[in-house]
Amino acid sequence: MELITLKSPREQELMRRAGRITAQARKLAGEMIKPGVTTLEIDAAVRRFIESQGATPSFLNYSGYPGSACISVNEVVIHGIPSRRIVLKEGDIVSVDVGAFIGGFHGDCAATYPCGEISDEAKKLIEVTRQSFWEGIQNARAGNRVSDISHAVQKYVEGFGFSVVRDFVGHGVGSKLHEAPEVPNYGPAGHGARLQPGMTIAVEPMVCAGDWRVRVLKDGWTTVTEDGSLAAHYENSILITDDGPEILTVTEDGAYE
Ligand code: MF3
Ligand code: CO
Repeated sequence: MELITLKSPREQELMRRAGRITAQARKLAGEMIKPGVTTLEIDAAVRRFIESQGATPSFLNYSGYPGSACISVNEVVIHGIPSRRIVLKEGDIVSVDVGAFIGGFHGDCAATYPCGEISDEAKKLIEVTRQSFWEGIQNARAGNRVSDISHAVQKYVEGFGFSVVRDFVGHGVGSKLHEAPEVPNYGPAGHGARLQPGMTIAVEPMVCAGDWRVRVLKDGWTTVTEDGSLAAHYENSILITDDGPEILTVTEDGAYE
């Protein structure tokens, strides 16, 4: 089994820098979400920004992934490949996932944005997905176990009649984009690794308005809900400290989206 790495104070500082650039890239992408914009234009802007900061996009060429961002519209849950043929329209919900690598460390974060006016159900889905992250990380305290986070996310989401994806999970993050441990968004509390100060993890609830089952399209990436229901995603990279979780993917002015 892969070992969980604890980051030294110096490494934590580097993780904060990677996280800041990643959060700023997410914010910039969020501000571009408007009817008529293509997901390829957003991807290009994300790449340009990350590179302007002296960083490299973590996702570009990762296992052959062709973009710098994953941009997932409506029933696409995650890993939507940016395309000039995907033109955003009023009423869409758009999940943007970005990663930046600098100084030997990655940041990883995501959020779902409305495109113009969206339905009340879509608004609720976005809000519940975002809040489920905060419910989850209230349990991200040294001495707790990984699945204490998982359980809190699932309980909160299902309380609204929505469902959590099982086939994809959160993860440790650091010098590699994906490190141990896995951080599922479901399951009973009290299982998995014990959380320790210096651990850095990406907590990322993926929530469906309908059933939790998903499938991957023939392109090998685009992951959609099997029932065609809407999906949302929210993610931050966090550091476990002696005083609880610290969000690493925050912008210069301390915003998370
Ligand atoms: N945030 C996603 C993750 O944690 C992004 C990975 S997309 C990939 O897995 F292209 F890099 F695979
Ligand atoms: Co991630």
